[in-house]
Amino acid sequence: MCGIVGYIGPREAVEFLVSGLRRLEYRGYDSAGVATIDARGSLNVVKSVGRIDKLDDRLAETPLAGNVGIGHTRWATHGAPTDVNAHPHFGGDGVLALVHNGVIENFRPLKARLQSEGYEFVSATDSEVIAHLIDSCLGKQDLSGDVAAENYQPLVEAVQAALKQLQGTYGLVVAFRDWPEVLIGAKSGSPLIVGVGDGEHFIASDGSPLAGYTDKIVFLAEHELAVVTAGSLRVIHRDQGHVSHSVQVLEIEAGAIDLGGFEHYMLKEIFEQPESIKNAMRGRLDRDAATARFGGLNLTPQQLRAMRRCLLTACGTSWHAALVGEYQFEALARMPVEVDYASELRYRNPPLDNHTLVFAITQSGETADTLAALRETKRKGCPTLGICNVVGSTIAQESDGGVYLRAGPEIGVASTKAFTSQCTVLAMLALYFGRLRDLSYAAGRRIIEELEELPDKVRTALRCNEVVKEIAGKYAHCETFLYLGRQFNFPTALEGALKLKEISYIHAEGYPAAEMKHGPIALVDKDTPSVFLVPQGQVYDKVMSNLQEIKARGGPVIAVVGEGDTDAARLADDIIEIPAVEEYLQPIVSVIPLQLLAYHIAVARGCDVDKPRNLAKSVTVE
Ligand code: AGP
Ligand code: GLU
Repeated sequence: MCGIVGYIGPREAVEFLVSGLRRLEYRGYDSAGVATIDARGSLNVVKSVGRIDKLDDRLAETPLAGNVGIGHTRWATHGAPTDVNAHPHFGGDGVLALVHNGVIENFRPLKARLQSEGYEFVSATDSEVIAHLIDSCLGKQDLSGDVAAENYQPLVEAVQAALKQLQGTYGLVVAFRDWPEVLIGAKSGSPLIVGVGDGEHFIASDGSPLAGYTDKIVFLAEHELAVVTAGSLRVIHRDQGHVSHSVQVLEIEAGAIDLGGFEHYMLKEIFEQPESIKNAMRGRLDRDAATARFGGLNLTPQQLRAMRRCLLTACGTSWHAALVGEYQFEALARMPVEVDYASELRYRNPPLDNHTLVFAITQSGETADTLAALRETKRKGCPTLGICNVVGSTIAQESDGGVYLRAGPEIGVASTKAFTSQCTVLAMLALYFGRLRDLSYAAGRRIIEELEELPDKVRTALRCNEVVKEIAGKYAHCETFLYLGRQFNFPTALEGALKLKEISYIHAEGYPAAEMKHGPIALVDKDTPSVFLVPQGQVYDKVMSNLQEIKARGGPVIAVVGEGDTDAARLADDIIEIPAVEEYLQPIVSVIPLQLLAYHIAVARGCDVDKPRNLAKSVTVE
């Protein structure tokens, strides 16, 4: 996980490094650090456990000068979040400093070997191994000549030799004390990009730190190294030598990352949903043909029609969206669908063939398990489509084709607008596949109209905010919640429970409403609220019976109901009204009060809503 940055050029490096780390903080935030090389040629590091603000405080006490530097915000995998374990790590006796994102799986034998060579380790991280390993490889190079005149080849060769010994994943940047006019970055499994400026270069885990600095970006591919000076960039393959690179121009808006008057990113993102859903649909609904259209599927309608089944894979909230997709595809496209956790799929051996279409669903496009599942299914010959939010992310690049969510940056660790955009894109795909098969023109037209009304329905649903806030106050002390729904609203129940547990640290379980009597009903008592999803639909009466079963056992019930539903209002302790919407779109509307409930409960309990403990926005480790 973690975010890394690098700078080389005329500016004071620390300014870019710290502002870049702030924008990458979503990737990890348990500790942070920066290193620069100053005019006297000394390589200095400042680190701190905690957030970037704490690092900034340390930098106020110990300023770092220099026009070249690297930085890191960490999500610990090896070793506790402490000052010592924070990056950058020194290699050798301080001849180089390194920041690393990823996990080195064979760090133990490498560490043992380096220790036997006399290297002393100060941290418990796997990353420090890479720093010493590069130093050890540097020792085998002839550095007596003019390294700069040799295009830094001895440094490149030392890094290449070290990387070849690593098993695992890395995005990394190395700064060399004695060659302050060069930085070397490398990527394998973790993202790394280079921003090209005017007489300066930036390195980062993604494009967000570059907003306001440059819009010219080079995406490194797997096993590529970037050798960067202020005025030059060379890309070298770890095993093959020099390779050409292309510079892409991408407009990254700094403004989109501001709080915009909201107290937290999560709340801002919840309220952005009418707009983000509209963006997901913009230009993709074709009234004349009564279907959806997508620019980047890279498969012909004939090829897509020949698909016999879909396999949807994802993690976390994106996995919940995949479950919604399963119901939507069955209802609209009559296609068999399987949904699998990416972390399970990657090690399973399901029978797959080239008539199985794989969808990798992911906000970040970097989730390690989803990426691995994508690669595994590709290897087996399945056509793959990525449903990603982050443009240019690894999964977006490695899928055969795909659909972008266009939800804009999602900063809150708890995913909200990405979920509703994923469900919207999946509904459009279900419409498209339905129209390739048995769905009639008239049905296609009706679905388009329903989709077009969706942003307004979500806007109306958001009006429940004040009611939900009150309900949150009433139940914020409870230590267990149940979330119950059926059919299309079963995944919504799972998502509501995940939202609550991840940001408020309250134990919550999502269940199909009828399934609760097979076990979880034992949890019900006067302090265990059940959140019921009971919008109108084919299973309304059934869910109402399940609701009665909870009431009969003395459990408080919060019911999310259709507007004007007096029956549910009579039974439930608290009700939240949402507008009526077709069943296949209900999760997109009914999740809104659940997002708000989790938010207000977390605020009431004084939790760090945008950066909950132990989590990170982008889970790039297995
Ligand atoms: C959502 O609130 C989570 N924090 C998490 O479950 C997330 O959805 C999961 O890690 C998958 O991320 P992705 O969509 O970026 O692949
Ligand atoms: N494995 C490294 C560590 O624990 C890097 C983790 C990260 O990617 O943040 O320090």
